[in-house]
Amino acid sequence: MRKILQRIDDQAPLDFTEFMALALYDPKLGYYARHTRQIGRNGDFFTSVSTGPLFGELLAQRFIRHWHEIGKPQRWRVIEAGAHDGTLACDILTAIQKISPQAAVCLEYAIAEPIESLRSAQATKLASFASSIRLVSDALELADDRLPGIAFGNEVLDALPFHLVERRDHSWRELLVSHDADGLLTWVSRGITNPELNHALTFLGENFADAHRAEIRTNFENFLKPLSAALVQGLMIWIDYGFASTDLHHPLRHSGTLRTFYRHRADDDPLTDPGEKDITAHVDFSDVARTAMKLGGKAIEFHNQGAWLTEIGRDWLTSREGNLTTSEARQFQTLTHPAQLGGKFQVLEISWNPQAAPKDAASLARRLFPDESAPHQVND
Ligand SMILES: C[S@@+](CC[C@H](N)C(=O)[O-])C[C@H]1O[C@@H](n2cnc3c(N)ncnc32)[C@H](O)[C@@H]1O
Repeated sequence: MRKILQRIDDQAPLDFTEFMALALYDPKLGYYARHTRQIGRNGDFFTSVSTGPLFGELLAQRFIRHWHEIGKPQRWRVIEAGAHDGTLACDILTAIQKISPQAAVCLEYAIAEPIESLRSAQATKLASFASSIRLVSDALELADDRLPGIAFGNEVLDALPFHLVERRDHSWRELLVSHDADGLLTWVSRGITNPELNHALTFLGENFADAHRAEIRTNFENFLKPLSAALVQGLMIWIDYGFASTDLHHPLRHSGTLRTFYRHRADDDPLTDPGEKDITAHVDFSDVARTAMKLGGKAIEFHNQGAWLTEIGRDWLTSREGNLTTSEARQFQTLTHPAQLGGKFQVLEISWNPQAAPKDAASLARRLFPDESAPHQVND
């Protein structure tokens, strides 16, 4: 906390991306850097990974299908971002070895992890897969040896720092973090000075009431670029809560989607107890897709998690018909039911493979860019 107050004194009020980077990722103060207890029953929140190994097994099915689609290359790579303590990586690697030993022997499973304490937790968890694993602090380290394959992350985009904006007198203002005389963190606001933020706000339109709040990320390009540079004809899969732009930035979503999580309780006050709780906001998937297009990719799937997992698990479900264990049936239900995780999360697939195309390009464009009369090209 002292570090945040000091930074404010040195630098004037912090924009919310700077505050969030300190509160979540600073090596000493940061919520994600200090320990790995956040996820699960004894932590602060659940993710799909917490339901059990089936989530990883279904992802493994999709990854192996991609390996087949690109001609079973002799070397291929999966890059996971936001791998936390390595549990999902462990589930996926176990499943790939079981389903396709041939794909497993030529796989490099890379984890791009900027936080040193998490890299060391991952190395411990994945010790038995040491010959297939590569831990890097930045995906750029992989760009010298580009390989065909996949980059993906579960609930990582929502953890990327965002700007906070608020509507005042028919224009947007940015909310910044300052402190009062007693050292308590407070909000202050200023007109928009950041050119990237200003540009992003042009996509929102003007139809918002006073005090409407929204969260805007301007860092998708920085995040996606090194990952795309590490792959040849790559596929990216992003799983998270969020919407297309027009649904996320709807005039009726008056107070935005910022949430904090501590011991399975949500609130919307990130300024209390920084470093002790998670800070998150929904993902603008139209923006992710637009950014990927700028980098040469194209969206090929955008579905809720329930529909997507059911589709990628179709062969597995058919082969196991009538033989699912109680635990597998429970996990599948939790992951896919529309009232549970199946409806809560969305999945966006983006491809850099010229041969890849969406099944129904018009419907995909309507879901990703619902308000645009001349939709973005998704299947050129
Ligand atoms: C909500 S956790 C998700 C963990 C895990 N994927 C799961 O589903 O259980 C978000 C993770 O994203 C990581 N993260 C945030 N920004 C990142 C970045 N730029 N590169 C890689 N990981 C990042 C955080 O450190 C954190 O471990």
